[in-house]
Formats: sequence, C-alpha cells, structure tokens
Amino acid sequence: MPSDLFGAIKALKQELNAVILAHYYQNADIQDIADCIGDSLELSRKAANTNADVIVFAGVHFMAETAKILNPDKLVLLPDLNAGCSLADSCPPDAFAAFKADRSEHLVISYINCSAAIKAMSDIICTSSNAVKIVNRIPQNQPIIFGPDRNLGRYVMEQTGRHMELWQGACIVHENFSEKKIVQLKIANPQAEIIAHPECEPPVLRHANYIGSTTALLKYSQSSSSSAFIVATEPGIIHQMQKQAPHKRFIPAPATANNCACNECPHMRLNTLEKLYLAMKNRTPEITLPEHISVAALQPIQRMLEMSV
Ligand code: 13P
Ligand code: SF4
Repeated sequence: MPSDLFGAIKALKQELNAVILAHYYQNADIQDIADCIGDSLELSRKAANTNADVIVFAGVHFMAETAKILNPDKLVLLPDLNAGCSLADSCPPDAFAAFKADRSEHLVISYINCSAAIKAMSDIICTSSNAVKIVNRIPQNQPIIFGPDRNLGRYVMEQTGRHMELWQGACIVHENFSEKKIVQLKIANPQAEIIAHPECEPPVLRHANYIGSTTALLKYSQSSSSSAFIVATEPGIIHQMQKQAPHKRFIPAPATANNCACNECPHMRLNTLEKLYLAMKNRTPEITLPEHISVAALQPIQRMLEMSV
C-alpha cells in the first residue's frame, strides 16, 4: 500500500479521468479526498452530469447502481461490493411485485434506497430530500404505493396529508436510535437542538426540532443560531458539520444497545481509503446490471431528476 494514499488516489484520478462521489456517511478520510460529497439526490445529480470516464462511488450498492443506470457505458466502481443496505434488502423484488399486483391502480413511488430491480418496477424514484415535493405533485385522486421505508413514508403522509400504501421496510441504523437516551441527552444539554433524518422512527421524530435529509440537516446546523445539536442520523455527517462550524458542538444520538457503534451504518463503513485506492488501481469491483433492468430503472430515476428541479 503506498505511504501517501491521498497522493496515490489523486494520481489515479488523473490517469483514469475519474470522479470520486462520496456520501456523508463515509469515513472522514474518504470525504476529504472526494470530488463531491452529498446526499443521495445530490450524488445522483452529479452522476447524471459528470463527464468523467470512471465514477468511483464511495457509498453503498444502490447508490453506485443508480450511477451505473444513469451511465451505462461508464465504469462505475464501488470500493467494497458488499456495501449493501438493510433497507434495500427489506424489499425483495418478488414480494414487492406481488404487493404491486394487488394494487394495480396505484402509482409506485420508491425511495432511492432500493435495488435496481425495485426501481425497474417503479414509476418515480425519490430521495429523502424531494419525497414531499414529488408526492405533492401527484394528482389527489391518484392512489400511491410508497416503498420501501415505512418511516419516510409515514413522514411524507404527515407532511402532505396524503394516504399512501406503505411497504414496511426500515433502516437498521435509523430504527435503532433510543428515544429515552435522546431525551436524557436533551435534559443534560437543554440548549441543544435535536435534528433528525426522516428514516428515524416516530418516537424519535416527535422530539426533533428539525427533520430533513443529510444535506438539509447539514444546512440547518449551519444556519440555525443554536450552538449545539443532537444529531439523529449516521454520525459520518458530523465530520462536515464540524468542519463547516468548528465553534458548534455536535452530539451523535445514541443507539438503544449499550457500548455498540449501532448508529454507524455497517454497510457504508465497509468502504475504506485503502479499498478505494485498490478499486481505482485494479478497476474493480465494478457495478454491472442486466440491460433490461437498467433500461427499465432509468425512466423513474429521470422522472425524479426532472420533478425535483
Ligand atoms: P439521504 O442521502 O437522502 O439523506 O439518505 C440517507 C441514507 O440513509 C442514505 O442511505
Ligand atoms: Fe441503508 Fe440505513 Fe445504511 Fe442508509 S444508513 S445505507 S438506509 S442501512
């Protein structure tokens, strides 16, 4: 392994004409070497508009898959191919097809945290930052299926006043935050605001001063006059919050179990700087998709990009 990994990755970037896209849940060193750090929507937009030949996706499988669907002729690398997503796994294609078949009049809106096979069965994709906007644009008399995240789905129903048929999936990280420990933290730090991702369970969201996607939480933490925040999402984002506001205090919301790092996404954290370097050096692991899935999944992603401008 080269002693100067940052230097070696920068050299490979030039050689491959590559762009490194990183989600906020990645380790700090990966965020620091990335060309673009963002939430799922920003990273999809970046993938849709890049003129790089190679996309190195420092995130999880469904994100790299989305980049590949948008760029079928480009090489898309994921540092660790096992970086999956519990939420995407909670929605198996066969079961979802049956759910959909029982509701044939429904429009299918799927959260981007799902497999390409689920995207291919969907009408519109959304992310946590545009879900409310997209649902608000659907005619009132149109019934909707929303999947796979029941918590984001429930939050969108509250915000829009629309009923939707929800797939009952959830994220292992966001369903794990402890309401009790968050309340205890708030009592110990009364000046701190609680900020939460909509993938959290309702008992946690109920206490939140602000709810939003990772990018929205980052922006709020900068614009708010508060000097302390209890952050109920994957703590990787705190690296950017702290970088952009060194004088503020960011406290990761604790998980239910004691002495565990359960608020860190075990999938996201499979990627390391070393694996990122090796992926670029060896041009593998590469994301590949059956053409019929890739073609069918493209339209709902493009609809999302068009509907969220
Ligand atoms: P956003 O990137 O939309 O904030 O979603 C967070 C997440 O869980 C990604 O897996
Ligand atoms: Fe999936 Fe949750 Fe990890 Fe996001 S944080 S990638 S939803 S398991």
